[in-house]
Parts: sequence; structure tokens; C-alpha cells
Amino acid sequence: MRHFLADDDLGPDEQAQVLRLAAELKAAPYDAKPLAGPRTVAMIFDKPTLRTQASFAAGIAELGGHPMLVDGALAGIGVRESVPDVARVLGRQASAIVWRTFEQSALEQMAEHAGVPVVNALTDLFHPCQLLADLLTVQEHRGQLAGLRVAFLGDAACNMGNSWLLAGATAGMHVILAAPEGYLPSEEMFARATAITSYAGGSVAGTHDAVAAVTGADVVVTDTWVSMGKEGESAARERVLAGYRLTPELLAHAGPEALVLHCLPAYRGKEIAAEVLDGPQSVVWDEAENRRHAQKAVLTYLVGAAGDSDG
Ligand code: NVA
Repeated sequence: MRHFLADDDLGPDEQAQVLRLAAELKAAPYDAKPLAGPRTVAMIFDKPTLRTQASFAAGIAELGGHPMLVDGALAGIGVRESVPDVARVLGRQASAIVWRTFEQSALEQMAEHAGVPVVNALTDLFHPCQLLADLLTVQEHRGQLAGLRVAFLGDAACNMGNSWLLAGATAGMHVILAAPEGYLPSEEMFARATAITSYAGGSVAGTHDAVAAVTGADVVVTDTWVSMGKEGESAARERVLAGYRLTPELLAHAGPEALVLHCLPAYRGKEIAAEVLDGPQSVVWDEAENRRHAQKAVLTYLVGAAGDSDG
């Protein structure tokens, strides 16, 4: 049984295959019906959501399936029932489970016991569906991924920073994260990404120097300074991260051709200036749309693989 719990659950060839499929599904959104039945996909959100819920629900419907929203609070996952018991129950109702939650270890438990593919719709540690959408967006605008240079600015210790390390390395990109002391990914995460570069090409690095990171970048990425669950640290984070704001002046070091990505929600005037988010280099609305196409591709891939292993 294949799952998509972290970016490196797809190797380089598989990631490329999923991205090719995403582009095909984007070109003909209503042609492929691998969830015809309709087969149900359970979606559970333990944190706020807009893009993820909307894009999974629309995408599952386009694949001929039925998106079933399971209220995590009502279900009381891990409180009223253990994660393994919830997994066993949902696995008997649904062909796949999409879960946004806090702990990566809870998601891993779900995958261990569900008997159907489990997809990470964001945890504290990773946001791999977002990365597939980001890579699809870059590929559309640049025609390639391998060899491109990506600069990620701000709170690089969050799920997006970790996911850029793993997914960017898998795509053979050169990923440089710029963040203040204490806001870079763990050494273990860098080691995990470095291991990928040994067979996928590309490179990963961290720095405290935002200008050095952005200089020569093909893609400049940022994310909120205050990830979901960190709201209590807002004031301190805004102070510490202020030097990493993506302003027009900073973006100028990357050159006029560089793409700007942001997974959204964005806070104009904080991690990104309004002129940059709303400016000509920003591809954030393509990026948001591409969630649907990328997630349709990964669901198609996983449900197809589950069908093959059943047979
Ligand atoms: N790092 C952000 C991503 C939002 C999609 C968060 O976890 O809140």
C-alpha cells in the first residue's frame, strides 16, 4: 500500500510521473474517472483550511469520486477513539484518506492501520501536496525543474521549508533556505535532503543571509511567519523575521524573470510586500489552482497502485 505522507515518499521518477499526470489532468480535467463508482475519499481537517478542502473536494468529484468530509472534532480522533481504530473504520468506508493534522506520527499511524492510501494534507512537519502544486507551477512557467535555483525566505523551520528541502531535492533543484537563527530546518532534515541530492542531483543549503539566497534565484518562495498552531508566538516572530520580508528591493536581487511563490494565506506587509504578491512575477493564483490538478494526480497514482497490489 502506497501513501503520501512526506515529499520523499515519491522518488525522482515517481515525482516526475505524478507531475506529468497532473499536467495531463489539467489539460483535460473531466476525462479521467479513476474514482468512478463513485468511490469515497475521506477528508479530515484538524486545522483551518480553504485551498486544501476546496481543491480536494473539487478534484475528487472531477475524478468521478465522492469527497466525504469527516469532522475531526466530532470524531474525536485520538481522544474518543484511537488513531488506529479511526483508521480501521474509515478504511472500510473510503478508498483513500486525506488528513490535515498536527503530528506526523499520528498520520503515520493512520497509514499503518487504514488499509487504503493516506495522503498528508499538511502536518506540522510537511505539506507535500502543496509542493507538488508548486513544482507543477514552476514547470509550467519554466519548462523544467532540475538545475533551477530556489530561495525560500522566512520561517524555514515550518512544514513548507521542510517540504521544499525534500521535494526540491527530489526534483534536482538547488534549494537555499534563508532564515534567522532558530528558524532553519533541523540537521536531520538537511541530512535527509542531502541524501536525496546524492542520486537526484541538485543541492540544499541554509543561510542567514537573505540577499545571498535570493541573488540569482529562479524561484523565490515565502510563507507566513506564523504557521497554524504558532499564533501565541506572533509578536516575537514578527520581530525576529522582519529582515526576511520579501520586498521589491530584495526580489530585485533575483532578477526580473524570477517567479514568486506563496502557498497562501499571505499577510501583505509582513512576510511579503503587497507589490510583490500582487506584482507581475507572482504566480500564486496558478499555484493555488494547481493544488487541484496535483492532488488529482497523486490520488490517481496511489489508488491505482492500491488496486494493482490488491490484484
Ligand atoms: N506553514 C503554514 C502553511 C499554510 C498552508 C502553516 O502551517 O500554517
